[in-house]
Amino acid sequence: MVGYVSRRSHVTGKESMPSSEQRAAAAGQTADVLIWRGREEGRYQRFTVPLFESQTVLDIVTWVQRNADPTLAYRFACRVGMCGSCAMTVNGRPRWTCRTHVANVIEDGRLEIAPLANMPVIRDLAADMTRFFEKWQEAKARFEPSRTRHDPVEAISPASAERITIEEAIECINCGVCYAACDTVRWDGDYLGPAALNRAWTLVNDVRDAGQTGRLAAVAGKGGCQSCHSHQSCADLCPKAISPTASIAGLKRRAMLAYLKGEL
Ligand code: SF4
Ligand code: SF4
Ligand code: FES
Repeated sequence: MVGYVSRRSHVTGKESMPSSEQRAAAAGQTADVLIWRGREEGRYQRFTVPLFESQTVLDIVTWVQRNADPTLAYRFACRVGMCGSCAMTVNGRPRWTCRTHVANVIEDGRLEIAPLANMPVIRDLAADMTRFFEKWQEAKARFEPSRTRHDPVEAISPASAERITIEEAIECINCGVCYAACDTVRWDGDYLGPAALNRAWTLVNDVRDAGQTGRLAAVAGKGGCQSCHSHQSCADLCPKAISPTASIAGLKRRAMLAYLKGEL
């Protein structure tokens, strides 16, 4: 259990207006927060955290680290939904925590916060994303230039069919939420996963890219797109409203076409 830490005004001779955090704490509004501590083996530790308006789950974790236990390990960078580093499991579901409001996810005054699933735990709330990113390499989900730096930059029309096909998919911020939500990743350690395959799909449609045949072979092989069972957990939970399921379905069609043409 932790206590409420008040903030004092630094304006000489004046009292500042109480913050929403102070008002909520003064009114006794607190959350019962359980946070995973340790590695694969560990336990949940309970904290009582003051609630305030527009509070995010990342605010809760930060409050605990600053006011209750400075050894708490977690990861974040931008706080505005751009870097993808803050994802955690909140009340059983993977989410980006900097854009997840407590009011939308708290259940009976309680929050349970754990590291992302389907990844080893480094410590506390920090998951090890090494395999997640290695699989991007295995899927050849990396741009292979067809021109050199001495050639003029190739313009892609926003109205082209290829660009429209990948319009949403290119917004991925590599947060790992879809990977943590995917049953197939859980069952099959070789499965490349929704994020890597989604990125591969954007490149399959990139007319500037020179690595198409090798990429299709990579995503059509063992652990590739055919392992996806299309249940859409990834699409349901992606914070950027991307559908990796749709991207993977596109890869399945493209791989089949290449096979029929004798290209695979
Ligand atoms: S597809 Fe969505 S959930 Fe998956 S890594 Fe990208 S942004 Fe995150
Ligand atoms: S639709 Fe495919 S990639 Fe998405 S969660 Fe299900 S098995 Fe995983
Ligand atoms: S901290 Fe960057 S997306 Fe949440």
